[in-house]
Amino acid sequence: MIRAGMIRKVAAGIYTYLPLGLRVIRKVELIVREEMNRAGAQELLMPMVQPAELWNETGRWGEYGKELLRFKDRGEREFCLGPTHEEVVTDLVRAEVKSYRHLPQILYQIQTKFRDEIRPRFGLMRGREFLMKDAYSFDRDEEGAKSSYEKMGRAYHRIFERCGLKFKPVEAESGVIGGIFSQEFMVLAETGEDSLVACHACDYAANVEKARGSDCPRGHGPLTTHRGIEVGHIFMLGTKYSQAMKAVFLDKNGKEAYPVMGCYGIGVSRTAAAAIEQNHDAKGILWPLPLAPYQVHVIPVNDQSERVMITSELIYGTLSNLGVEVLIDDRSERPGVKFNDADLIGIPYQIIVGEKNLADGLVELKDRRTGKVQKVTTEEVIDLVKKLVLPPAPRAES
Ligand SMILES: Nc1ncnc2c1ncn2[C@@H]1O[C@H](COP(=O)(O)OP(=O)(O)OP(=O)(O)O)[C@@H](O)[C@H]1O
Ligand SMILES: [Mg+2]
Ligand SMILES: [Zn+2]
Repeated sequence: MIRAGMIRKVAAGIYTYLPLGLRVIRKVELIVREEMNRAGAQELLMPMVQPAELWNETGRWGEYGKELLRFKDRGEREFCLGPTHEEVVTDLVRAEVKSYRHLPQILYQIQTKFRDEIRPRFGLMRGREFLMKDAYSFDRDEEGAKSSYEKMGRAYHRIFERCGLKFKPVEAESGVIGGIFSQEFMVLAETGEDSLVACHACDYAANVEKARGSDCPRGHGPLTTHRGIEVGHIFMLGTKYSQAMKAVFLDKNGKEAYPVMGCYGIGVSRTAAAAIEQNHDAKGILWPLPLAPYQVHVIPVNDQSERVMITSELIYGTLSNLGVEVLIDDRSERPGVKFNDADLIGIPYQIIVGEKNLADGLVELKDRRTGKVQKVTTEEVIDLVKKLVLPPAPRAES
């Protein structure tokens, strides 16, 4: 990501997102947001700076350890930078939710988190400052909480599918009687920090530490091992936080009860990095189309040729007007430099405009992933790109 001009390091585990990198982050955010909203979760934004009092209520001020970055304000009051938001969101719900009629609720945010990781590494993969989507569900009872948990699980499937990633949800805790209450979503990649085992015949998969034996518990024989990157985690919390913070509501019978909670994280910045770990070759990135910073990269081979520049600008303008996300390399660089940079950045389709082909009215359309090149006319290239990157027009109902 550094070589491709997507991020710059500011300090250990702390990065600036450059324009190209930020576009990728925004794409992950958009997919996450759409699927959270579709699942009925509501977006809010909680503060990054949190008072120690809330963390004392749950005992985590003492328990959390050095990952929690603590500091004092000018009045000597203690604060921390939020690594997660159970306390803040439970404090909110305790003030607002008084009756079973106010439940269930799923609240989420997309926000910068800070964890003073002992070993920040691999760029955005394990940062100290990073972007997370965190959601919290509050239900009237266990059954409701289970249904919220399953709803989030389905949303997570849709999110990582829409990102164009190969992933596996794995059992993170040993299966509790009556269901699984913690799952990690793993993007499969050789360089992943985590090991998981999966069945070849069914969807059973588990974190290696959590697997109960080397055979599929559903009787399909031996499990195979994979490497993965944890990009998401869904978790049933029960009443741990609502009880500790005395967040009560009145149930149907007018009796005090504690909302049953769940929490659900997605590493937004880690997902961008994981996409690269899964999709690259020796020359650079092979972005899945849904996460690519741009969909098409127009490369005028020789910026001294008027004809090359006019045609390139025309293709750029026409595609942009159609709603295609296009980047044009209008730098005065040698062709080799432009080709190498384009392969490194990894935009899925390249349109190469050179003098020789233009003499025959042709340009090249290159598929970055397969390397396949087609010579087509300037009109054909527009049609081809439209088909490749734009969603099909909705068909009229018959
Ligand atoms: N240091 C980090 N940098 C980037 N993303 C992170 C980091 N820590 C956690 N995440 C992301 O946030 C999600 C939710 O956070 P959670 O507390 O479940 O992570 P975690 O169990 O601490 O992760 P890990 O085991 O990798 O430290 C994770 O699934 C991961 O995608
Ligand atoms: Mg951690
Ligand atoms: Zn199986």
